[in-house]
Amino acid sequence: MIKKKSTPNHVAIIMDGNGRWALKNGKTRKAGHRAGSKNVMSIIEAACEEGIKYITLYAFSTENWKRPEDEKKALFNLLSEFYKKEIDRLIKNNILIKHIGDISKFPKQTQNIIRETEEKTSALSENTKITVIIALNYGTYDEVKRGLIKFYEDVKSDKIDISSIEETTILNYLDTKEIPNPDLLIRTSGEYRISNFLLLQIAYTELYFTDTLWPDFSKEEFTKAIDSYTKRERRYGGISS
Ligand code: IPE
Ligand code: IPE
Ligand code: MG
Repeated sequence: MIKKKSTPNHVAIIMDGNGRWALKNGKTRKAGHRAGSKNVMSIIEAACEEGIKYITLYAFSTENWKRPEDEKKALFNLLSEFYKKEIDRLIKNNILIKHIGDISKFPKQTQNIIRETEEKTSALSENTKITVIIALNYGTYDEVKRGLIKFYEDVKSDKIDISSIEETTILNYLDTKEIPNPDLLIRTSGEYRISNFLLLQIAYTELYFTDTLWPDFSKEEFTKAIDSYTKRERRYGGISS
């Protein structure tokens, strides 16, 4: 018998398909990203309604620097706009914002708004309804590179003893330190790849792929993904009980 599992604690999403949505609707890629950005709050709300405690959203990868300058600029502007527009609603609804990735490469103004939002919402920690983790200039290889440097420094300064290293020690050197690993990973837009996203954290995560483009990914579709998760049996290398 398949064991019914409860709601996932942590859902991660690769929000893909803004460009193809724009093409399909005769709009510019920038308009596609705007439509994608508009969908974010609605999916965060849906996650709250489902009782999910953590949601990680892939917004800009370390590989996205390859895109044209004007597209990147539009993405950074949208990010700032999003925080400015939503900050009051985030605070009112006890939504805690965190970031993973290296934001030091972003324009100073964008960095300031990101930090400000994180600080303002961190005051809520005691009453947090959901923690939203935005992945910005994130890529696993870069995350591991930065983690290795930190690890080397900790060994050099005797903060860590090599003989006490465990399998899970590596997780303490990732950007997601203190965040539980995702239970469910959703990718929109019909691509069947992970694109350098949370490669170490998703070792035992359930995967869900849908053809729907991110701006069209509705609350109903989100619930469908959660329902699919609840029907699965996670065995972690063991056997059915
Ligand atoms: C996802 O949409 C948003 C980012 C990667 C920033 P895309 O812009 O990748 O959309 P497609 O894949 O071109 O349709
Ligand atoms: C993944 O989408 C990154 C984000 C959603 C931020 P991409 O569109 O960049 O991924 P690839 O290039 O199709 O693998
Ligand atoms: Mg894409």
